[in-house]
Amino acid sequence: MCGIIGYTGRGDAIPLVLEGLKRLEYRGYDSAGIAFFYEGSIKVRRCKGKVNDLAGLFADEKPVSRAAIGHTRWATHGKPSEKNSHPHRSGGIVVVHNGIIENHAELKRSLVAEGYVFLSDTDTEVLCHLIHKHINGVPLEDSVRKALEGVRGAYAIAVIDEREEGKIVGVKKDSPLCVGIGDGEYFIASDVPAFLNYSKKVIFLDDGEMVVLTGDGVSVTTIDGSPVDKQVTNIGWSPAMAEKGGYRHFMLKEIHEQPAALADTLRGRFDLESGAVNLKEFGLEEDDLKTVEKVVIVACGTSWHAALVGKYIIEDIARVPVEVDIASEFRYRNPILRKGDLFISISQSGETADTLAAQREAKRLAAKVMSICNVVGSSAAREADALFYTRSGPEIGVASTKAFTTQLVGLYLFAVALGSAKSAVSADKARQLLQDLLEMPDKVEQLLSTAEVAEKIARELYEAPGFLYLGRGINYPIALEGALKLKEISYIHAEGYPAGEMKHGPIALVDEKVPAVVLAPKGPMHYKIASNIQEVKSRGGTIVSLVHADDDLVPGLSDYCFAVPDSNPYLAPVLFVVPLQLIAYHIGVLRGCDVDQPRNLAKSVTVE
Ligand code: AGP
Repeated sequence: MCGIIGYTGRGDAIPLVLEGLKRLEYRGYDSAGIAFFYEGSIKVRRCKGKVNDLAGLFADEKPVSRAAIGHTRWATHGKPSEKNSHPHRSGGIVVVHNGIIENHAELKRSLVAEGYVFLSDTDTEVLCHLIHKHINGVPLEDSVRKALEGVRGAYAIAVIDEREEGKIVGVKKDSPLCVGIGDGEYFIASDVPAFLNYSKKVIFLDDGEMVVLTGDGVSVTTIDGSPVDKQVTNIGWSPAMAEKGGYRHFMLKEIHEQPAALADTLRGRFDLESGAVNLKEFGLEEDDLKTVEKVVIVACGTSWHAALVGKYIIEDIARVPVEVDIASEFRYRNPILRKGDLFISISQSGETADTLAAQREAKRLAAKVMSICNVVGSSAAREADALFYTRSGPEIGVASTKAFTTQLVGLYLFAVALGSAKSAVSADKARQLLQDLLEMPDKVEQLLSTAEVAEKIARELYEAPGFLYLGRGINYPIALEGALKLKEISYIHAEGYPAGEMKHGPIALVDEKVPAVVLAPKGPMHYKIASNIQEVKSRGGTIVSLVHADDDLVPGLSDYCFAVPDSNPYLAPVLFVVPLQLIAYHIGVLRGCDVDQPRNLAKSVTVE
């Protein structure tokens, strides 16, 4: 999730843009850059590292400029480095971009054939050369319009051109972009914190809209040039609130970012028409998959819960045996890995010590190693033979939410790819599985529209001394995840258990003070879960059930219910975990806990 900021007006553009980049640091990044008009040309300064490092490049010079664009990069294509930092340029055209250009490879091939020389490994660079290709004496906005005709993907861009000093052109599609209106000065940015100290009058662009900023004003059109009359919003937030997008905590913001994170993670990863998963996005070849005899998945914490879900999905879809292990156990148990075993590590940070050690042990045992990771250029990503990046964007809250659901869809995609390679999944079946996957961002959005139900449940139960979370089959790991979410942010003890195990001990915990949160999707185990609920009820337990809307049995047995949209059973975990994230969040807040930075916890456990 990169950050963009641009300024044009009568002020000193460079310090204003550098300050705006500082205000966007919360989005997470690995490099930064700025481009500014100066003495008739455009200068570019950029570096791997922090905004302060970028500002340090101006220590010996104080150029005064009236228009500039800046960028903080969260790498998706191409590791963090100076050459991959934005802004990128082609001749007098300079671009900063937040998003993913899906068809960048084919565009690059055609531009190289036309003689363009690429200097970076990024997808963004194709935009500079495409715009440059279409400048032909027309205004910048027309060459941008023409260039984008052949581009597929998500983009929020700001573009400047040496020929038109002071003009900034912005376009929005599937990545956020807004405009700040000052007094004779104008800002363009990914998010309002970048300029909130200078303007609270904001225009939020919609998909397919273009904005042209000059020192004289702002004009908004559709991408094909039709004028658009945009509403100006007055922002009442403080900059601190704005960094959280108006949400009270990063964790709540990130729970609500899941539809976008899922959409970004799916983008360009498969072809629905053919039912083919894009193996390049995993760093795998068809033959790598055909020879896989066993999959071993290793992780920690929430990522381990994703691994457990992965076992159910991969074994059922691809019919390949899967072993799952906690990384700190795997690394010390003298593990057995053989040729034909595929080792998968899952890690949001890519820096978890135990997971890295397990991955290195697997490499030592000559297994093929794939990393499912959220941080480009992290240790796990760099050291793996194959690599799938989740694209949840930076996850600031210590409790993992959007990274988890994007890990789940990554494992689902892998299962479809493996099943196809092993001829366990037909093309028709693959198309259906991928169509079901494509619906997930909207289904999570639909579920989030009822988020207040979770807050109501939390208000009723936040003083309970402990919780039981129960699930069966593929949702048993989600019971574990729900319990972990509650534990780590509210400090209430909670147990996740397979519902069928209740009678073997945990039922002794049940009384009227200990609520049981039960995942009760429709399906072959539904009636068994209903009887587990009755076992708890008959001992005075309070029941919170997560059900499908047309369930006519479990709601009548429950004290509280949360309806979850229907889905194919492999994707139920992506939906059923969201109410548990929300319930844990609200209970943590009601108990006065620091939900973004819980006690004793770190976002990445880089030590044993
Ligand atoms: C999840 O909410 C926790 N913060 C923790 O369990 C985390 O999942 C675990 O430390 C693994 O981190 P990783 O995914 O970055 O490897």
